[in-house]
Formats: sequence, C-alpha cells, structure tokens
Amino acid sequence: MGLLDGKVAIITGAGGGLGAAYAKLFAAEGAAVVVNDLGAARDGSGADASAAAQLVVDEIRAAGGRAVANGDDVSTMQGGENILKAALDNFGQVDILICNAGILRDKSFPKMTEEDWDLVVKVHLKGTYCCTLPVWKWLKENSKPGVIIMTSSTTGLYGNFGQANYGAAKGGIYSFMRVLSIEGRKSGIRVMGLAPGALTRMTADLGYPENPLRLPENIAPAVLFMASDLAADHSGKVLSVSSQGVAEVKMVQTDGFRPDKPYTAQELAGHAQSIFFGAD
Ligand SMILES: NC(=O)c1ccc[n+]([C@@H]2O[C@H](COP(=O)([O-])OP(=O)(O)OC[C@H]3O[C@@H](n4cnc5c(N)ncnc54)[C@H](O)[C@@H]3O)[C@@H](O)[C@H]2O)c1
Repeated sequence: MGLLDGKVAIITGAGGGLGAAYAKLFAAEGAAVVVNDLGAARDGSGADASAAAQLVVDEIRAAGGRAVANGDDVSTMQGGENILKAALDNFGQVDILICNAGILRDKSFPKMTEEDWDLVVKVHLKGTYCCTLPVWKWLKENSKPGVIIMTSSTTGLYGNFGQANYGAAKGGIYSFMRVLSIEGRKSGIRVMGLAPGALTRMTADLGYPENPLRLPENIAPAVLFMASDLAADHSGKVLSVSSQGVAEVKMVQTDGFRPDKPYTAQELAGHAQSIFFGAD
C-alpha cells in the first residue's frame, strides 16, 4: 500500500530538480501525477515545453506509475487553469498541489533591473497564486479536502544577500500560505510551506559540500510526509528541509515592553533589552 494511493497530485516545475524527485516518489507511493514544467532556463528565459516534463513522465510510466506531462506557464491564470484541466481530463480529480516551479535572477539590489524584479515575483508569487486558485475553487465546489504545499525559502524567511526579488516573492509565499491555511481550515484544505535546501541546477554554483542529504531524492520524503495523511494534523506550518534535517520555522515575538501609560521614543530606548531578541 502506498501513502498516496488513490490520490492525484499536481507538481509544478517537476521536469528536473526537486519537483522531479517529488513526482517520482509520489507516483511510487500510488499517486497519479501531473508533471508540469515549462522547460525554462534557470533565469526564466526560454521554454521547451515538451521535453523535461515528458522525460519524467516516461520514467514514472516505465516504473509502472501513472503520470501525464503538462508544459504550461505557472505564472499566468490560463496556465494555472490548464494545469488543473490536465489533472481533471486525465485523472478526474485533484487532491494535492505542490507549487514548486521557480527561477532565479540574483543581483545586489541597485543592479537588479525592474525586469529581474517583475519576472521573479511573477513566476514564484503570482505563479503560486495562479496554480492555487483554480485548484482551491475546484476543491471547494466539490466539497473535497486537499493539500497544497507552497515553496518558500530560507531567503524569504530570513533574508539573503543579492536576492531582493526572490526573497520578496518567497516571503510573500509564506504569508500567502498562512492566510490560506486559515481560510482552508473549515473545508479541510491543508496548506503547508516548505523551505528546501538541495543540490539542483538552482544551487549548483553555490559550492555546497557534497552531502547525500542534499540530493532532491532525499528531500522528497519530507514533502511526501507533508502531503500525506501522516501530517493530517498540520496546516499553516513551514518546514525547513535540508541536509541539516527537518524543522518547523516560526515567526516569533519577544515578551516586549508592555506600557500602562503613553511613552516617548526616548523611554522606549531604555527597554530595548525586552523589545529585541538581542543585538544584531
Ligand atoms: N534548491 C534549493 O536549495 C532551493 C532552496 C530554496 C528554495 N528552492 C525552491 O525550490 C523550487 C524548486 O527548485 P529547484 O532547486 O528544483 O530548481 P530547478 O531549477 O531545478 O527547478 C525549477 C523548475 O521550474 C521550472 N519552471 C521555471 N519557470 C516555470 C514556469 N513559469 N512554469 C512552469 N515551470 C517553470 C523550470 O523549468 C525548472 O525545471 C523553487 O521554487 C526554488 O525556488 C530551492
């Protein structure tokens, strides 16, 4: 028995890297998978809609699994609707959506062009929206529970030099995930976030030391866990999954300064120790 028997999963950007690893594991665990990938270069240029996703589908089918390729662009509403249609036309339903597609255009802030900003935000943040909305509506209209996993990043949660566009998009995805997890509660739609750390073409030039726990196949079990009923009690949470292990990341607040009368900025400075976690 597989953990995803009878389920249909859409995985975006699954022609390579992390998404391909999720697709293969999900199919091996019994899910029918829509393998979406536009076939873009790392910076979002170009599109070879057929090749990458189809190769993953061929591999899944050769292993006895069920999958179909889709080459739509996640960052358009039409693309999101077509991706859902691929699931419904081929498998009749959708239970799981993994928003994973992504690109990078890293530059220090003053060197980052408006186009670099717009495209990265469009693919990640708007792409997550464009794929989620049709699935969300279908789940609600059909009174079905479901799981949506949105890919954030440590850059979006903590920040990182040279990734203003990417960090803004990934931070937005975290907040989007939080809001939808609250809106989905009544209808049994779980929404989770993921901050992965893996060796893929996206991180190939960062000089990570070799570590088998960085391979996409070794990140995929955590995503399977999040998508399966093993995590049925969890929604609205973001997991960091990397060679360092698996851990929840949370927004936290200090005890703070709690006044009982109006105060001045100068007085506040005297309470810095209880307002801040510490010096930078
Ligand atoms: N690898 C890491 O360490 C790491 C760290 C943090 C976050 N992430 C996130 O994980 C996700 C997967 O990244 P990866 O490392 O596997 O990178 P990757 O480049 O191997 O995979 C991304 C895939 O998305 C596809 N894609 C790009 N634009 C698309 C579009 N508009 N429509 C459909 N498909 C599109 C690409 O063709 C590519 O196959 C991304 O969202 C990335 O930001 C990765």
